[in-house]
Amino acid sequence: MDFKIAPSILACDFGKIQEEIEMINASAADWLHIDVMDGVFVPNISFGQPIVSKMAELNAKVSDVHLMIVNPENYIQDFRNAGADVITVHYEASNHLHRLVHQIKETGAEAGVALNPHTPVELIFDLLEDIDLVCLMSVNPGFGGQKFIYKTLDKIKRLKDEIVKINAGTIIEIDGGVGLQNMEAILKAGADVLVAGSSVFKSEDPTATIERMKNLFSS
Ligand code: DX5
Ligand code: ZN
Repeated sequence: MDFKIAPSILACDFGKIQEEIEMINASAADWLHIDVMDGVFVPNISFGQPIVSKMAELNAKVSDVHLMIVNPENYIQDFRNAGADVITVHYEASNHLHRLVHQIKETGAEAGVALNPHTPVELIFDLLEDIDLVCLMSVNPGFGGQKFIYKTLDKIKRLKDEIVKINAGTIIEIDGGVGLQNMEAILKAGADVLVAGSSVFKSEDPTATIERMKNLFSS
């Protein structure tokens, strides 16, 4: 089974951010997931463009930037300039998602749309052909280390069925509470990219954990 692992930098030790990113670079991880929070869209603040820019510079993998902010249209070019390869905005943060998705694509970045746990996947069906990635939140956004919401499995299946039905190239990313204990079910439901924060960085040996995740179906 082909899938990608995207460790979420939010769970790292920020006192040694360079080492942490170098560890990811040397690991079997595919992407680096970078969470931007504004304290308005979500009840927490993380970091902005200058920090993302430094992270992206150190990062040798795909820089997957998840914007949990209001008015994302005002910051798309800034995050692209900061080095984002994938820019994901929230469905719930935009009244003009079609325009926003195309604004992202015009910068040359891949366009992602994230859905909160309460948002039905059917609400983006009419936009699927324009979107490179749909990120299904499997926790309420704002914090790392929360429990996976199992209803997400059903949402993944419904979304995957539609993608296959219309033959769209959209990939499905799952964000929140993902780890070795539930990734098989998530992948079997149809996910393509797994974000993993605490399960990687809070483990005893993050490199070995990523390796185990990538090798889940071998042996
Ligand atoms: C939550 C963030 C997630 C978070 C995941 O708002 O979008 O990316 O870092 O962390 P874990 O894997 O610990 O749930
Ligand atoms: Zn995220």
